[in-house]
Amino acid sequence: MIQAVPKNVDSKSPTSNDDGKALQPLDLLAFKKASKKIACLTAYDFRTAQLLDESSLDVILVGDSLANVFLGLENTYEIGLDEMVYHTKAVARAVKRALVIADLPFLSYQVSLEEAILSAAELMKAGAKAVKLEGASEHTLQVVEKLTEIGIPVVGHLGYTPQSVNIIGRGRVQARSEAEGRDLFNEARALEAAGALAVVLELIPSELAAQITKTLKIPSIGIGAGSSCDGQILVVDDVLGRSDQELKIAKKYVDLAAETKKATQLFIKEVKEGVFPGKINSF
Ligand code: KIV
Repeated sequence: MIQAVPKNVDSKSPTSNDDGKALQPLDLLAFKKASKKIACLTAYDFRTAQLLDESSLDVILVGDSLANVFLGLENTYEIGLDEMVYHTKAVARAVKRALVIADLPFLSYQVSLEEAILSAAELMKAGAKAVKLEGASEHTLQVVEKLTEIGIPVVGHLGYTPQSVNIIGRGRVQARSEAEGRDLFNEARALEAAGALAVVLELIPSELAAQITKTLKIPSIGIGAGSSCDGQILVVDDVLGRSDQELKIAKKYVDLAAETKKATQLFIKEVKEGVFPGKINSF
């Protein structure tokens, strides 16, 4: 099996938050060792990524939530590698310090090992420093092991995995029973043994997430998995108040939807009334 945590990583490894240097994948392990929480958000476009990066965010995920959040589709499995590459390029172009991770979209890694390698390579060439994939099937573990071996860091994703929404049910908390909890715990350990850099835990009981976090050497990044995880990730639109739903697992820190409508209505009014453009806007 692959060495999940290289011996030369210590808690004094640089973290961009402290010294302004670009975060490297292995810095996530250093965060965990130093008991520093990892703050992560998604982004799908240049300007949003730039603003998050300038705010000293640790990790920007070009998530396949791109499909529903940014492109208005219903499910994450409706987008492909080309769209992920396009948006990863836009995000990576903007980012100087945060660690950019990109999702391997549906069917870009499940069919064969070869296809998984080629898909991951496309995302890395687009500017990602690591890729994320869902689940821990035998095939997925092989993909994690192979990608890690050839130099592509992989973040796992367990619990609620949106690419399987039609099997697991939309928005349902996972691993509620003891047996399911044990299975998920073992999957997290298997991902670590296969060489995963970190694991996202989505919509699982907080106690289970805490147990996994305590056991693994690699960091856990939670979303709807309680406060014990080594890091937290949210979809950026939920944080900025741009989405049209309010989720229990998220927190709206600003209401950009309301501000956007207010500003747009004021613009319309000023155009209609001949107030804009004013003298100051004219030559
Ligand atoms: O695609 C995504 O945005 C994600 C996060 C919510 C973890 O996978």
